[in-house]
Amino acid sequence: MSIASRKEQHVNLSLSGKATFREKTAGFERYEFEYCALPECDFRDVRVDTTFLGMPLRRPFLVTGMTGGYPDAARINAGIAEACVQSGIAMGVGSMRAALAASAPDPSFTVVREASTEIPIIANLGVAQLAIWHRDGSLLDMVDRAVDMIGARALAVHLNPLQELLQPEGEPEFRGVLDAIAQVVASERTTVIVKEVGAGVSGAVAKRLVDVGVTHIDVAGAGGTSWAGIEIMRRSDADQVDHLWDVGIPTAECIRQCRDIVPTLIASGGITNGTDCATALALGAHIVGSARPLLEAFSRGGSDAIVQLVDAWELHLRQWMFLTGCASLDAFRSMSPLNTRA
Ligand SMILES: Cc1cc2nc3c(=O)[nH]c(=O)nc-3n(C[C@H](O)[C@H](O)[C@H](O)COP(=O)(O)O)c2cc1C
Repeated sequence: MSIASRKEQHVNLSLSGKATFREKTAGFERYEFEYCALPECDFRDVRVDTTFLGMPLRRPFLVTGMTGGYPDAARINAGIAEACVQSGIAMGVGSMRAALAASAPDPSFTVVREASTEIPIIANLGVAQLAIWHRDGSLLDMVDRAVDMIGARALAVHLNPLQELLQPEGEPEFRGVLDAIAQVVASERTTVIVKEVGAGVSGAVAKRLVDVGVTHIDVAGAGGTSWAGIEIMRRSDADQVDHLWDVGIPTAECIRQCRDIVPTLIASGGITNGTDCATALALGAHIVGSARPLLEAFSRGGSDAIVQLVDAWELHLRQWMFLTGCASLDAFRSMSPLNTRA
């Protein structure tokens, strides 16, 4: 199957309603906010604006990388970019590997370039591909091309050993990946955001990344989209691999393990409402990301549906901040007004 057809199949399967974890959750339900009866702030003064990758964001939210590389992806990426500009939030695109192999810039990616003057746009490549380019000496050239194609403020490097293991066309070859990441970081070409794709980054993995200079990590933990599930659905021998459907570290646990290690921590994976956003931030994340729920909103009601969802998430976040007596995101993060449910 061509990469373009595979990308289209991924979007369709993720919208099928079957691509989620079966038994595992992101873990946010295990926490509850401690109510503060004496907040020293007015609700209207609760602020959720922040800066990310050197640009202002109206809300601490990011649509994490999903697609590009086939004709209809131009419509999706343009629609997501429009919603992100209107909402004042950041946006990632999907893997750009195939686009870099083509001779001309791919319109399904360049369509987001215009938005890059107003919001941070994030390029995307897989870590196994980075290792191949690291070995053949073309790595930094490829990074420059990906970043330039869309005017990106950062490059997201996705770690996906579980997905590569299960993908029918997968290449589970990860030798040398940390050296490749280190080369891109050391080159100071762009900010590197290392992310998973829904199976999570542990504290131990985060430490190895931070030790080579990585400053931004998106834990992309378990509990939302199951990439194992999506690839298992694409296989003819599903019964041989079905036991791996729910592999991964729940997002709330990833945040807990990574918060004292990672300078800029992004929490994503299974974020489905404003209370999840609030809990992720109170647990220690700086930015909250979401993928499939926003793609679903787009497929239901276009850019407007994303804007409405983000408005609701912001309102609910501000409500939780007020009810815990926190007028700023810094206060919300450092006060950790969370109890563990029994
Ligand atoms: C249709 C689709 C395509 C995706 N493609 C990519 C990709 O190319 N690169 C990447 O880093 N992550 C990709 N992801 C993973 C998301 O960025 C995210 O980490 C993951 O879906 C978990 O978040 P969620 O539970 O909010 O969906 C994709 C997700 C979806 C739903």
